[in-house]
Amino acid sequence: MSRRTGSASRIGIVGGGQLGRMLGLAGIPLGLSFRFVDTGADSPAAAVGEVLPGPLDDPRLLRQLARGSDVLSFDWENASVAALARATRGLRGRIAPPLRALAVGQDRLNEKRLFERLGIPTTRYAAVSTLPQLRRAVARIGLPGVLKTRSFGYDGKGQAVICSAEEIPAAFRSLEGAPLLYEEYVPFESEVSALGARAVDGSEAIYPLTRNWHQHGILRLSLAPWEDAALVRQATRHLRAVLDDLDYVGLLAIEFFVRKGRLYANELAPRVHNSGHWTIEGSETSQFENHVRAIAGLPLGNVASRGHCAMLNLIGRMPPRAELLAVPGLHLHDYDKAPRPGRKLGHCTLVAASATERNRRTRALLQALALKLPDLP
Ligand SMILES: Nc1ncnc2c1ncn2[C@@H]1O[C@H](COP(=O)(O)OP(=O)(O)O)[C@@H](O)[C@H]1O
Ligand SMILES: [Mg+2]
Repeated sequence: MSRRTGSASRIGIVGGGQLGRMLGLAGIPLGLSFRFVDTGADSPAAAVGEVLPGPLDDPRLLRQLARGSDVLSFDWENASVAALARATRGLRGRIAPPLRALAVGQDRLNEKRLFERLGIPTTRYAAVSTLPQLRRAVARIGLPGVLKTRSFGYDGKGQAVICSAEEIPAAFRSLEGAPLLYEEYVPFESEVSALGARAVDGSEAIYPLTRNWHQHGILRLSLAPWEDAALVRQATRHLRAVLDDLDYVGLLAIEFFVRKGRLYANELAPRVHNSGHWTIEGSETSQFENHVRAIAGLPLGNVASRGHCAMLNLIGRMPPRAELLAVPGLHLHDYDKAPRPGRKLGHCTLVAASATERNRRTRALLQALALKLPDLP
C-alpha cells in the first residue's frame, strides 16, 4: 500500500504481452509499479517491469507475484481462476477485475448465459461436444453457422464456418476434443465495441463507441468515436448492465454485431481491449490508465475524446518505422515482438479534428500500406 494515499501502488499482472506493457506505460507516471508473470523470455512487458518467468498458472510464481503486490490483475483472459484464487488466499491484496468476470470471459457459454440473463440480445447458439449434438444444433439453428471452441479462442482461432451439411464432419474434426459452441452466422452490417471502466466505489466511465473492421478474424482497424446515437444508447445500457452485475472493477469490453440497427453481443473481455488502443492519444484518459486507476482503488479519469481517431493494427510484418513516422500526426506503438504471420506486432493511431478528415487520412494510410477494407466511410 502507498504510504501517502492508502491506495494500491504495486500492481502484479498475470501475463506480460503488449496489454501488460501498455498498462505499465500508463501507470508508471501515476507512481505505480508493475511486475508480471509471463512464459516468454522476450515479453513485451519486460520494458516496464520485472517479469517472473514461467507458466502463467504456476502456483509458486503466482504466490510470489501476489505477495509482492497490493493488487493482482491479468492481461490474459485465460489466466487460471483457481490458481489466482489460491495465490491470494490469506493475503490482504485483492484481485481486479473480479474472478467471476474472468470466469465468464473464459467460456463463451458463460458469456452467452450472462447476456441472456441480463436481457442483452446475442446470437442463437448451442453448446456441443459430439458430432450428433452438432448435427442437432445445425438442424435447430440453421446454416450458415460458426463452430467455436468455448475457451482459448482469440484472433479468430478455434473457429470453423459451416455453410452446408457436408461441411459438418470436417468442421467438427478440426476442433474436436474441446468443448464447443455452435452459433448462427450473423450477416452483420458492422461490428462495434463498447468499453467502460468501473471503480471500486461503483462509479463508471463509458468511452465513446468504436467501430471495428476484422480481417481473417483479427482486428485490423478501429474508428472512434462512432457517432450513432441509437447504437450508443444500446451499447451503454448493455455495458452498464454487465459492469454492475459483475460488481466489476477495471476496464471491460463488449464486442457487438450490428444488424438492422440492433446490437447483438458477440463476446466480452474482462480487460483492456485492442479496439480501445485509440484512447491512448484519443481520450483525456486512456483505457489503460483507467484500468490501473480502477484496480489500484483510485478515481477514474475523464473519458472525453480529444478528436476523431483511427487505430490500425500492424500484423505479421512491421512496416519500416521511418515510413510510418513520415505520415504526419501518426502515433506509433511497436510492441517489440518477433514477426510471425498473423501476429499483432504493433499499432498506429491518427487523431483528426473531424470525422471527415480522419476518414480521408485513414484511407490514405491504408493505401500507402497496400491494405484494403470493405465499407470504409
Ligand atoms: N457468428 C458470427 N457471425 C459472423 N461473423 C462472426 C461470427 N463469429 C465471429 N465472427 C467474426 O470473427 C471475428 C472473431 O470472432 P470472435 O467470436 O470475436 O472471436 P475472437 O475475437 O475471440 O477470436 C468476429 O469479430 C467476426 O468478425
Ligand atoms: Mg472477438
